[in-house]
Amino acid sequence: MPCPALPEGFDFTDPDVYQSRVPLPEFARLRRTAPVWWCAQPHNIAGFGDDGYWVVTRHEDVKEVSTKPDIFSAHRNTSIIRFHESMTRDQIDVQKLIMLNMDPPEHTRVRQIVQRGFTPRAVRALEDALRERAGKIVEGARRSGTGDFVTDIACELPLQAIAELIGIPQADRARIFDWSNKMIAYDDPELAITEEVGTTAAMELISYAMNLAADRKACPAQDIVSKLVAAEDDGNLGSDEFGFFVLLLAVAGNETTRNAITHGMHAFLTHPEQWERYKRERPATAAEEIVRWATPVVSFQRTATQDTTLGGARIREGQRVGIFYASANNDPDVFDRPEVFDITRDPNPHLGFGGGGPHFCLGKSLAVLEIDLIFQAIADALPDIALTGTPRRLRSSWLNGVKEMRVRYA
Ligand code: HEM
Repeated sequence: MPCPALPEGFDFTDPDVYQSRVPLPEFARLRRTAPVWWCAQPHNIAGFGDDGYWVVTRHEDVKEVSTKPDIFSAHRNTSIIRFHESMTRDQIDVQKLIMLNMDPPEHTRVRQIVQRGFTPRAVRALEDALRERAGKIVEGARRSGTGDFVTDIACELPLQAIAELIGIPQADRARIFDWSNKMIAYDDPELAITEEVGTTAAMELISYAMNLAADRKACPAQDIVSKLVAAEDDGNLGSDEFGFFVLLLAVAGNETTRNAITHGMHAFLTHPEQWERYKRERPATAAEEIVRWATPVVSFQRTATQDTTLGGARIREGQRVGIFYASANNDPDVFDRPEVFDITRDPNPHLGFGGGGPHFCLGKSLAVLEIDLIFQAIADALPDIALTGTPRRLRSSWLNGVKEMRVRYA
């Protein structure tokens, strides 16, 4: 049904819509007039519906979809990690081996195993090493005087953190970084990553991780790989499952945190009073507000397993349902003046890490730690950092990404 509040043909999965900004005014109009709206457009993201998809915009409805996996399946017809729009059905089906695309009980089994690697203790154990790495990354940037914040600073810590967490041997890290960076082929012609390069990188990463798993199975060590793959009985991951888990981490933990850091820096530089306050007080609430403000993952999607109603709309079995975190995080029914970047916002029940269901971000505490550590390092070593150009956005409709942001470091 056309929406009177939006221009004819408006499509929330069209990367062009996101060329200069996330469409927050359009989300606001939907929240007021048609909070669960059927967008009758062919998909622009693999896995969204061929004939259309529901756009869920209100905080409470995004939470409802996220927490009812029996009604809103992550598995059925779903593909979210997309290497290229011409992916074949087989390539999409392979992605069902990734936990993000599983439903209970398969999902519950895998999640219980991988959670062992993400306990608060496991994350805390990384803190000193990551603080030192954050300091070195920032110091390297300072010495260069000016540069691109994305490649100099924001890209580095998330990749190093994942390698540290999994226990990837130092000698192999450069390869992991290279595969991860090539893997996600955006709609962005400038990145010049062909489908073949992206898919080959993904396959190489999976096979590297499978070999690592097989080694640790044969000869367990004191690391997380061993913890996940080398336990007796069926309380462990198969080598192939481990391969896909590492692939997911490389996407889910890398691009997201990178963009949170870049948007966070941009928000500080365009709200100097918040930067001054951060430098003085370093509030513990800052990282969560950065994630709300950035909302690096604009949306995910589910498929209805039965006819149901949501926010007054009647959804039919088999229809695709897009949950738009970017809209939920700006819902004035939940956030006081959501358009204000306020690093002391508390409480801050944002849905940047998901709507609280079984797929809620596994790496949230690691991400928050990384964001805290990098901004502390920047505040210490680069207090006068300044923008020298307009950031260049990534051409993508599900990732709120920045591919370049020129700055003067000191
Ligand atoms: C899932 C966001 C960092 C690992 C998710 C989901 C979102 C998200 C929206 C889906 C939630 C759902 O469907 O209900 C983010 C953001 C991050 C971030 C915004 C950074 C600011 C990380 C990091 C890691 C990670 C650092 C790990 C190193 C995962 C995994 C899942 C996930 C494994 C799938 C969980 C499952 O299916 O059970 N994340 N994430 N994420 N994230 Fe994150």
